[in-house]
Amino acid sequence: MVKAVPLFLAPMAGVTDLAYRLLAKECGADITVTEFTAASGLSRLASHSWMKVESDPREKPFIPQIFGGNIDEMVATVEMLQERADIIDINFGCPAPKVCRNDAGAALLREPDRVVDIVRQCIAAADVPITVKMRLGTGGGPNTALEICQRLEAEGVARICVHGRTLRQRYSGEADWTQIREIVESVDIPVIANGDVIDAASAEACLQATKAGGLMIGRGAIGRPTIFYEIKRDLGWTKQAPPWGEDNTAVARLWCWNRYLELSSELYEDDMCKNLKRHAVSFTKGLPGASKMRVSLHGISDQKELGSRVAEYLENLVESS
Ligand SMILES: Cc1cc2nc3c(=O)[nH]c(=O)nc-3n(C[C@H](O)[C@H](O)[C@H](O)COP(=O)(O)O)c2cc1C
Repeated sequence: MVKAVPLFLAPMAGVTDLAYRLLAKECGADITVTEFTAASGLSRLASHSWMKVESDPREKPFIPQIFGGNIDEMVATVEMLQERADIIDINFGCPAPKVCRNDAGAALLREPDRVVDIVRQCIAAADVPITVKMRLGTGGGPNTALEICQRLEAEGVARICVHGRTLRQRYSGEADWTQIREIVESVDIPVIANGDVIDAASAEACLQATKAGGLMIGRGAIGRPTIFYEIKRDLGWTKQAPPWGEDNTAVARLWCWNRYLELSSELYEDDMCKNLKRHAVSFTKGLPGASKMRVSLHGISDQKELGSRVAEYLENLVESS
């Protein structure tokens, strides 16, 4: 059995809204991070950007993730955010062309000096720890990941999360856990391994391969926040009963969906839960009769109605299970 390490819910734009992050915590995630938010928007006080970095006292630590290639905007953002944040995470991992074209996200990995400069100035402006999330370089030209991690450690970065793919790979192929291990062995700060952890078996394999100080889970947690409990249960890290009581998949899904609705109605004003439809699809993915049920959601614009339609479907599933 592998030693217990913190489990992180990966930042995922359009998925990890505040209600979902709180739900993931209730399901066993130790640390959550907001989706990436542009320093250009935050530093200009754009309200849609600030909405992405909302938190709640139950989200401890609160870690907003920011990105940008403009140092003044990054520093201004750090100065504004740090009053509310416990840690600020900087994204050098996003492969989206829209982000990379603007010299931000993973595109910056081709310029280690710039990455280091951005981080140095953010650290100088910050009273809270700065962490970084990155990929294994751009995949074109020399691999800069190891060098960048060592230099970031020297600058005072508190923790680095490495997604074991290059920018060029985007989400294709397999995450390279061997390269993550090389990074783990070449720095003293905690390195969090990310990429392709989808259950307890892959969590154990990833920890054995990387020796990382934590695991971050992205796609495996979409629609399935129970993954955090399941990993801890199956690896013998917890003896606690799950919050949904009975250890039954249908019961767990129904509990999670109802809890997501409850948290959303607590946190957002009517119709402000922009990800509800997406979660409705992912929470029911692969379940019997789910595609038919999802078609029936198309015409529904009222969020309460959408929420109850999915809850009803899951209740029927529990009854028949
Ligand atoms: C829909 C989606 C949105 C994402 N948004 C972000 C983001 O905002 N910030 C970030 O650092 N990574 C983002 N990622 C990357 C994930 O955090 C993670 O690094 C990647 O999915 C690999 O982990 P996995 O194999 O566990 O999914 C996103 C991934 C997905 C699938």
